Amino acid sequence: MNYNRILLKLSGEILAGNNESVIDTNILKYFANEIRSIFDLGIEIAIVIGGGNIYRGAQSTSDEDKIGRIDGDYMGMLATVINSLALKDSFEAAGIPTRVMSALNINEIVEPFVQKKALRHLSKGRVVIFCGGTGHPYFSTDTAAALRSAEIDADILLKGTKVDGVFDSDPELNVDAKKYDSLSYSDVLKDNLKVMDLSAITLCKENGIPINVFNFKVPGTLKKILMGEYKGTKIGDD
Ligand code: GTP
Repeated sequence: MNYNRILLKLSGEILAGNNESVIDTNILKYFANEIRSIFDLGIEIAIVIGGGNIYRGAQSTSDEDKIGRIDGDYMGMLATVINSLALKDSFEAAGIPTRVMSALNINEIVEPFVQKKALRHLSKGRVVIFCGGTGHPYFSTDTAAALRSAEIDADILLKGTKVDGVFDSDPELNVDAKKYDSLSYSDVLKDNLKVMDLSAITLCKENGIPINVFNFKVPGTLKKILMGEYKGTKIGDD
């Protein structure tokens, strides 16, 4: 096993499934099964999930219909709270002890993020889901994932997406898109590859946290990455 403690960033959009529900309960069960398979390896698992299935803060329709950046970002942060509660429920149903910690103060619903308490939960074998983003507008859940990775000293940030890794163009639009096996942080920043936003990449670079982008929709891929049997796209030092 290459890693003792991981942070897994999951897309909220995947939770919606294909049938236009906000949260598809079959997909929730799929998430729980994938996590169960790596939980059984005995590694410490932290998770950040996006909120794009409910609301995407930076999303713009037309200028006049658009919700302002700050309110929109708070709506996105609240969406991550909803998704995290759904994950917790499905994880516990699958026998995975789970705690949710929030960057926003909503103590009636979930406990607040306290770094040392998060480490304690992890050391006791609990999956910890961090919600509420960074607690501030102008940041994405990718940045929250990078920040929490640094705070808990994660060995790797695994970004689960709908595609097999990082491509030179959108693989859903271009059949000839070429996948990268590995990239440096500088490549991603220099070529403006749309992996994560720049503040997330910079945080990982400054704190020496490798990133691995992989397809979360293909069953077993997460476990294969952790076992060193499969590479999506790995991002690290030059
Ligand atoms: P240990 O002390 O390591 O055993 O951790 P623990 O999480 O089991 O104990 P704790 O007493 O901290 O929490 C018990 C339960 O209450 C857990 O499900 C926590 O997630 C939950 N909890 C703790 N603090 C808060 C809070 O501020 N708000 C909410 N809503 N739940 C909380």
